[in-house]
Amino acid sequence: MKKIVLILLNSAFCLSAYCQSNDTEKVYTINAATIKAQVRPTMYGIFFEDINMAGDGGVYAELVKNRSFEFKDPLMGWDEVKQDKADGSILILNRGEANPNNPRYIQISSKSAKGYGLINEGFRGMGIKKDNRYNFSVLAKMEEASAISLQIELVNGKGEIIGSTTVSPSSKQWKKYTASFIATETEPKASLRVLLKGIGSVDLDMISLFPQDTWKQRPGGLRADLVQKLADMKPGFLRFPGGCIVEGRELDTRYQWKRTIGDVANRRMIVNRWNTEFAHRQTPDYYQSFGLGFLEYFEMAEDIGASPLPIINCGMACQFNSCELVPLNQLGPYVQDALDLIEFANGPVNSTWGKKRAALGHPKPFNLTMMGVGNEQWGPQYIERYKIFEKAIHARYPQIKLVSSDGPFSGGDIFNYSDKIFRKLKAAIIDEHYYNSPEWFLKHVNRYDHYDRNGPKIFAGEYAAQSVGGGNPENKNNWKCAMAEAAFMTGLERNADVVSMTSYAPLFAHVEGWQWKPDLIWFDNLQSFGTPNYYVQQLYSLNKGTDVVPLTLNNEAVEGQDGCYASATLDNNKHELIIKFVNTSNVVQKADFSMSGITSVTKASLTLLQSDNLDSVNSLDQPFAVSPQISNIEFKDNHIKLNLKPYSFNIIRVNIEK
Ligand code: AHR
Repeated sequence: MKKIVLILLNSAFCLSAYCQSNDTEKVYTINAATIKAQVRPTMYGIFFEDINMAGDGGVYAELVKNRSFEFKDPLMGWDEVKQDKADGSILILNRGEANPNNPRYIQISSKSAKGYGLINEGFRGMGIKKDNRYNFSVLAKMEEASAISLQIELVNGKGEIIGSTTVSPSSKQWKKYTASFIATETEPKASLRVLLKGIGSVDLDMISLFPQDTWKQRPGGLRADLVQKLADMKPGFLRFPGGCIVEGRELDTRYQWKRTIGDVANRRMIVNRWNTEFAHRQTPDYYQSFGLGFLEYFEMAEDIGASPLPIINCGMACQFNSCELVPLNQLGPYVQDALDLIEFANGPVNSTWGKKRAALGHPKPFNLTMMGVGNEQWGPQYIERYKIFEKAIHARYPQIKLVSSDGPFSGGDIFNYSDKIFRKLKAAIIDEHYYNSPEWFLKHVNRYDHYDRNGPKIFAGEYAAQSVGGGNPENKNNWKCAMAEAAFMTGLERNADVVSMTSYAPLFAHVEGWQWKPDLIWFDNLQSFGTPNYYVQQLYSLNKGTDVVPLTLNNEAVEGQDGCYASATLDNNKHELIIKFVNTSNVVQKADFSMSGITSVTKASLTLLQSDNLDSVNSLDQPFAVSPQISNIEFKDNHIKLNLKPYSFNIIRVNIEK
């Protein structure tokens, strides 16, 4: 038996939770007097992309799908309603150049006194909460000689009314009408009926329903539970809006930030590039209304205390798709967008774009310090475009740090080509991506140990362990992957002098509307839960500390000995020493943490994230199956002795006397 255990210990992961103990106690030495590196406030952040219905149908709290009839199929999400043989007709009209950003609207004509109209299915239904208030709004224009009011009804799965109100359009010109009501029932899959009362015609556009209870109670705002999950991470930065969404599958559908600010009725809707990207997860009803636009992104970053990191299109569409390029002599408007964005974020209120920001209700600058040029680009075409952006941005804003990309892979020719050039160009921050197996994460815990300490800073901008393979629909957010990420992150932290920013990707996924797995936070129309991977990210962020100090076993970094991985930081503000220890083996590890360079210990606690089962996942039904547990622990003469559980991520916080 002993032989079998030893063999298992040598493999990257031991498959069964055979709860034995590694009988030899190991002494881990922490020297808190030796500062190896500083941990930047930006170290652990958030990557936000509108993929998996993260934006529309997700954090953007609008409940009506295709509210302005601008989807390719203008009636997608809508159905005609004819109650009790009521009769009428529907026309889709197009104003064309008279309203280029929102050309279409619907004309509903009723021949019956009541019962004719439309119903909207929402984004896989509408999540409605009992006793909560809902705000309805619509742009309407009455046809001559019509006297019509609109009966607005929220309907549950059984067809019963669970909330209703009336609006009475009166103007012959476009005008916004609003009404609100309280829902009488909780329903995950409600729909919204808009019925005409009276005979005649009415023109409607921007038919909208929002919960009152949005994040910070902002009208037309964001889903509070989802933003709260982000706030709970206390992230150092918020990267937005992606991701490949920045690039577009072709240049026409690239992200253009200027189209995402101002009146939502004038934000030109486009198809979401993920809607039919994968044959296995077609989502043809996935569009971008841009209700979550650049002002909202900046505000969200501000609200959750994160530095904003916008990524700007650099004149290249997605290189996995059309690979369209803007000729170099036509790059001007793209570069101008980047310059104007900096002014929009930071400019004084009397500057052109600072004035627009102020007019949108945010005179205070957003303190933008960094910007990404291109998302996940590569090759000589990227380099030549990057150089043009870099020159123009730094001529005007030398203090802005630019993020450049080493492409989609963690190594190989594409990576090496960019990496060599960006180092030569003395790039400020290089973005690296790795969507690899959990075994890869363990094996590469020392990835940054040998990076040039004086070279560009590294942004581990997109990473996630893939239980099956890159973006595979069978991937799971299981404990095996989360634990591998926790182990890998000890290597990020130990190398905080080189690695200045990190973020898991993607962030959000709707349980019925996803395209890509795994993802950090999952939700349906009413609830959300953090995956084990979420708790790993959160624990690192909440326990980041300010300075890296050495933690060694026999004078060596703990990088996989006995399946263990560790790092340590000091928190100079709170006077605490923080040890992160990941035991990926299937046996208890006996540890003696011997701390020097500190005065006496006053208190110590252990935060434990653990599961005996590597396949464990969290779910809507069991959101906390793998979640942190905190307990006080004993200490003696600057020693802490612990039996570290198999398959565990341990955070030991030690209060040190000042
Ligand atoms: O996170 C999903 C996608 O992975 C991102 O959009 C892209 O940057 C990467 O390829």
